[in-house]
Amino acid sequence: MEEQNLPLVIITHSLPTEWLAKLEGKCRTVIGPWDATHFDPSLEPYLAEAEGLFCLLTIPVREELLNRAPKLRVVSNMAVGYDNIDVAACTARRIPVGNTPGVLTAATADLTMALLLAAARQLPQASKDAREGRWITWSPAGWLGADLDGATLGVVGMGKIGRAVAQRAKGFGMKLLYTDIPLPPEVETELGAQRVELPELLRQSDFVTLHVPLTPETRGMIGEEQLRLMKPSAILVNTARGPVVQTAALLKALQEKWIAAAALDVTDPEPLPPDHPLYAQPNCLIVPHIASATHNTRRRMAELACDNLLAGLEGRRLPNCVNPEVYENV
Ligand code: GLV
Repeated sequence: MEEQNLPLVIITHSLPTEWLAKLEGKCRTVIGPWDATHFDPSLEPYLAEAEGLFCLLTIPVREELLNRAPKLRVVSNMAVGYDNIDVAACTARRIPVGNTPGVLTAATADLTMALLLAAARQLPQASKDAREGRWITWSPAGWLGADLDGATLGVVGMGKIGRAVAQRAKGFGMKLLYTDIPLPPEVETELGAQRVELPELLRQSDFVTLHVPLTPETRGMIGEEQLRLMKPSAILVNTARGPVVQTAALLKALQEKWIAAAALDVTDPEPLPPDHPLYAQPNCLIVPHIASATHNTRRRMAELACDNLLAGLEGRRLPNCVNPEVYENV
């Protein structure tokens, strides 16, 4: 097909060109800036003509944007989470929405364990102390942390990522509780995981890790009431979505020591401004939403997003579609 007849795709954010190699010869692209925090104004003029949208989790795709893109035939999100997209509005327009599950499960579970271990053993503080000259000797009672072996991990949300975390935690000798729809009995047995209600999980766990998607039901699900149920020695890890935890309540919990520490890959708001009081909490470890940030994982996410995009442009079913109802009664 002549280049000018290829469908136009808006890619909201610059990406390494090799990650987008699959798109070559299949579509024309206009690409937003590196580190785009919103839909860049330079892309606005292309909305009227765009047939595909390749976006990141930081870019809201709502009615107001969809209304300006009447020819849109596919929205492909380079993320497993898709709370940035008004899926109902896309479905109403029969636009399939793609996401990238699976390829980031291991990397996200690895970072969850890294955060959990770093918080349990106070690595940021210990590293700072060493660097700043406070390492005077092998200190028998210095930098004491919590054991994982024998401790209880509460997994809130036992989807792919929750399960991958549970497998890793089992390897560390942890006992497992979880909330979610029940796992098949053989999986429960294999993991040694017991299903309980959330309040029970919060009361019993030494570590709590969140793996639920952000939905109206999960927004703010960890607030003051829930944090007060946790043990004063407990550590909360969030690699899911920031708004699952009420930030003000978490700050209070850390300041008043209702819990021992938090380790966050995601925050609300995101990014967390540099002067935010959570950064001032020595018992709060914060990293900038990097759970899937490995070379291989990010490339595979981009490639899967390209597969979804191309399928949508070619009228095929998306390999990973979050609103398969668009294919009903067609
Ligand atoms: C990352 O947060 C993702 O949803 O892929």
